[in-house]
Amino acid sequence: MAGVPITARGVSMTYRARGGDVEVLRDFSLDIQTGERISVMGPSGAGKTTLLALIGGLEAVQAGTITVGDLELSTLHGDALANYRHRTVGFVFQHFGLLGNLTALENVELAMSFSTGSSRVRRERAGFLLDAVGVAARSHHRPAELSGGEAQRVALARALANEPSLLLADEPTGNLDGTTAEQVLDLLDTVARDHECTVITVTHDPRVANRSDRIVRLASGTAPK
Ligand SMILES: Nc1ncnc2c1ncn2[C@@H]1O[C@H](COP(=O)(O)OP(=O)(O)OP(=O)(O)O)[C@@H](O)[C@H]1O
Ligand SMILES: [Mg+2]
Repeated sequence: MAGVPITARGVSMTYRARGGDVEVLRDFSLDIQTGERISVMGPSGAGKTTLLALIGGLEAVQAGTITVGDLELSTLHGDALANYRHRTVGFVFQHFGLLGNLTALENVELAMSFSTGSSRVRRERAGFLLDAVGVAARSHHRPAELSGGEAQRVALARALANEPSLLLADEPTGNLDGTTAEQVLDLLDTVARDHECTVITVTHDPRVANRSDRIVRLASGTAPK
């Protein structure tokens, strides 16, 4: 699996909330090349997580188009959308998003429930990935029994489970100390290089952003500067 190019054209997004509408993105456009590593920066509330959710197929595109490879996301529904989320995209969530009642190993395995491999193959791969991110010794811990850095590495292992063409990482070092953050970033770099996947990382940290090929800045509710 190699990376995918991404094109966003005229994307607007408004959340309908009880307290009033929240316009998050307005006429937003962006081109990302295959294998490019992009950082998205901007103040809290600018719409960074929203942008990842749209590109990752977790939020429906309301206006404009987002094309990932040869898929126009608004045309995907049902199984096609689920396939896109599971096979093309690896998502590292801002708050890890690990299931609390499953062990680290089971969390990674679950991500592969779509794959055709046997449960033994999935378990072996989950073990391999946890080893690759340096938390094999915590395989049978549940998320509450992991440190922040360990949980983030499990989340990264899970995101890599299906060999994604597109890795979306929402503040992957936001909860980590400097040394652990460096380790997670080294891992992200290695993954991006080895798998040639396209990587979009949301971050507030200039050290993270400076490792990427390009920085995209979001200001509140507007197109990138
Ligand atoms: N489901 C929702 N319903 C209503 N408003 C929402 C919803 N999700 C996000 N918002 C609002 O949209 C805006 C953008 O949210 P988003 O999570 O994309 O910001 P962000 O740039 O990732 O911020 P942070 O740096 O704090 O993570 C915020 O003002 C938020 O309150
Ligand atoms: Mg966010």
